[in-house]
Amino acid sequence: MLYKFFRFFLFRLDPEVVHETLLFLLSLAPVRWILCVFCRYDDPRLQRNICGLQFKNPIGLAAGFDKNAKALLGFQALGFGFIEVGTVTPRPQTGNPKPRILRFEKEEALVNWLGFNNDGIAQVVERLKAVKPKMKIPVGLNVGKNSDTPLEKATDDYVICIERANPVVDFFVINISSPNTPELRRLAEPHFLEELLSRVQRVSRHPVWVKLSPDMSPDISKDQLPQIIALCEKYKVSALVATNTTTDYSLLSSVRLSQGGISGNPLRIKSTHLLKMFKSQVSSQMALVGVGGILSVKDAQEKINAGADLIELYTGLIFKGPALIRKIKRTLL
Ligand SMILES: Cc1cc2nc3c(=O)[nH]c(=O)nc-3n(C[C@H](O)[C@H](O)[C@H](O)COP(=O)(O)O)c2cc1C
Repeated sequence: MLYKFFRFFLFRLDPEVVHETLLFLLSLAPVRWILCVFCRYDDPRLQRNICGLQFKNPIGLAAGFDKNAKALLGFQALGFGFIEVGTVTPRPQTGNPKPRILRFEKEEALVNWLGFNNDGIAQVVERLKAVKPKMKIPVGLNVGKNSDTPLEKATDDYVICIERANPVVDFFVINISSPNTPELRRLAEPHFLEELLSRVQRVSRHPVWVKLSPDMSPDISKDQLPQIIALCEKYKVSALVATNTTTDYSLLSSVRLSQGGISGNPLRIKSTHLLKMFKSQVSSQMALVGVGGILSVKDAQEKINAGADLIELYTGLIFKGPALIRKIKRTLL
C-alpha cells in the first residue's frame, strides 16, 4: 500500500533518473540499516545448496538492475538470496541514446533498449573487490560482449571479463540473450556456442550459468534447442537462466514497438514455457533459474512448479516494491 503511494510519484519521473536515485539511496549506510530492520526475513528452511553454492534464500536480483555493482549491500539488505551484477563488457559503453526505457503501467511491463551501458570490467571488478568481503550471499557476474566486437571475436570478450573477475565473484552468467546488442543472440547458435563454452570453462574458476532468450525464432530455431542443451551439458554448465527479455511485440499489442526487450507480466507465460521445456530435457545435475514476469507470489510459485531451483526479479521489484521479496519468502515457508 505504502509502495503504491510512492510509486504514483516515482512513475511520473524518467525511469533512468528513478533508477539511478534508487541505486544511490541503496548505497547509503543509514538506508541499509533501516532496510535491514524492515526487510529481514531469514529462515534456515529458505536456504538452498545449488551449484555448490550456499544461497540464503532462492530469490535473486536479476541482471541489469545493478549493472555496475554500485549498491550490492543495499540489495543484500533488501533480503535477496543472491545477486547478478552486470551485464559487464570488457570496455565501458554508454549504450543507446536516451530515452531507452518505457514503462507500461496497465500491462505491468517495461521495454528497454539500453544496449549494455556499463562501466567496463576494470571498474566493476574494483567495486566488487571492495564490497565482496561484506557480502553474505553469492554474487554472480553476468558477462557480455562490447557492441563493436564482431561475433567471430566475441568469445575473447567473455574470457577477458571472466579472467579479471575470477577473484571477486561466486559464479558467472554467460549472456547470449539480450536483444539490444546486434547479433548477440546468434551466439546461441551451436557453432558459436561450442567455442564460447569450451573457452569459458577453461578460464572460469566458478560455476558457469547460461542465460537464454525466450525467442526461439528468428534468432534460434526450435530444433536447435536440444543442441544448445547438449552443449551446455557437454561443457558442464551449472545452470540455465530462463529467460531474458522478449522481442515478441505481439505480447504488448496496445502499443507499436520497433525496438527493445519486453519484461514483466507479458513475458511470464513465454518464459515459463521455456523453463518447462528445459526441465523436461536437462539432466538433474543442471540447475534452473526462473526469471521473467514474476510480479506476485503466485507467479513465483508458478516458476518453482515449472522446475526452477532459484528465481530472479527485475520488473516485479519496480511494480510491486521490495515487499514482494518478503511475501514470496513467507509463502515458500
Ligand atoms: C531495464 C532492464 C535492463 C536489463 N539489463 C539486463 C542486462 O544487462 N543483462 C541481462 O542479462 N538481462 C538484463 N535484463 C533482463 C532481466 O535480467 C530479466 O531477465 C528480464 O527483465 C525478465 O525478468 P522480469 O520480467 O522480472 O523483469 C534487463 C531488464 C530490464 C527491464
